[in-house]
Amino acid sequence: MKNFISVNDVASIDALVQKAIAYKAAPHKDKKLGADKRVGLLFLNPSMRTRLSTQIAAQNLGMESIVFNMDKDGWKLEFEDGAIMNGTSVEHIKDAAPIFGAYFDLLCIRTFPSLVNKQDDYNEVLVNQIIKYSGIPVISLESATLHPLQSFADVISITESFKEQRKPKIVLTWAPHIKPIPQCVANSFAQWINAWGHADFVITHPEGYELDTQFTEGAAIEHDQATALKDADFVYVKNWSSFTDYGKVLPDNEHWMLTTGHLKDTNNAKVMHCLPVRRNVELSDEVLDGPNSLVNLQAANRVWAAQTVLAEILTTQSN
Ligand code: CP
Repeated sequence: MKNFISVNDVASIDALVQKAIAYKAAPHKDKKLGADKRVGLLFLNPSMRTRLSTQIAAQNLGMESIVFNMDKDGWKLEFEDGAIMNGTSVEHIKDAAPIFGAYFDLLCIRTFPSLVNKQDDYNEVLVNQIIKYSGIPVISLESATLHPLQSFADVISITESFKEQRKPKIVLTWAPHIKPIPQCVANSFAQWINAWGHADFVITHPEGYELDTQFTEGAAIEHDQATALKDADFVYVKNWSSFTDYGKVLPDNEHWMLTTGHLKDTNNAKVMHCLPVRRNVELSDEVLDGPNSLVNLQAANRVWAAQTVLAEILTTQSN
């Protein structure tokens, strides 16, 4: 594995999941793999789980990790080619990224979309510039359109939680929120579940919240939430802002908040959310605090997802 930006960087999801489960059983078995290697964790946005799990993962592999909050501690970056930098931007990514390449063996970066410039967001301008100019392997800690380490942890969690000899029914359901939220988690989850291929996969959302079909192709789309949820084994709850009316929040969908009532016709479904969650806006307390919630498992599995991806890239580097 050279970079980890999307599921397209993964040769076999099943093999990667088994490697992660092996790390969970023996976290320090490859303690020497990352010896004398340094990973930079660059954040342009807040994070708790991604930051801590990736640092723990690096430590488990014997790597040094340095966190740099670029949005707070760094110079304001310019990403536009040919920009005349007479405004607020102080440093061009062309100048900053090679420095990261000189300081680190591997780079992890978290960015969010603008939710204003759809073309730049969906072209992943920022991550692609980092890959182009740093010259070292890059792992996405969430980009403008995808959150692959989260999705990998989600597939690990589903694999661990479902032992029946049939395909699970997995439903991704839109949930309300108070402000515009990126489509990243939903795009990425859809992309991974479709590529994984071991589930009957349904996406449900109000009209106007259609996701980019490059990620959803293969899933059934159902606008009636109750119909979609029937017989579900897993319900993944997530808000996203409109992709078509880009970055907008559409009115009058509060009833999409997932409660125990919504789950009554499921197959005793496990409930998933990537966290952080707006309690009693996206999901009710009783669901989140109930026995079928997988949210803590998902967050815990972020460590093994990150450790597996770091190890894959370190192994590629050393060959
Ligand atoms: N799920 C997730 O990425 O959490 P953080 O934003 O806290 O990293």
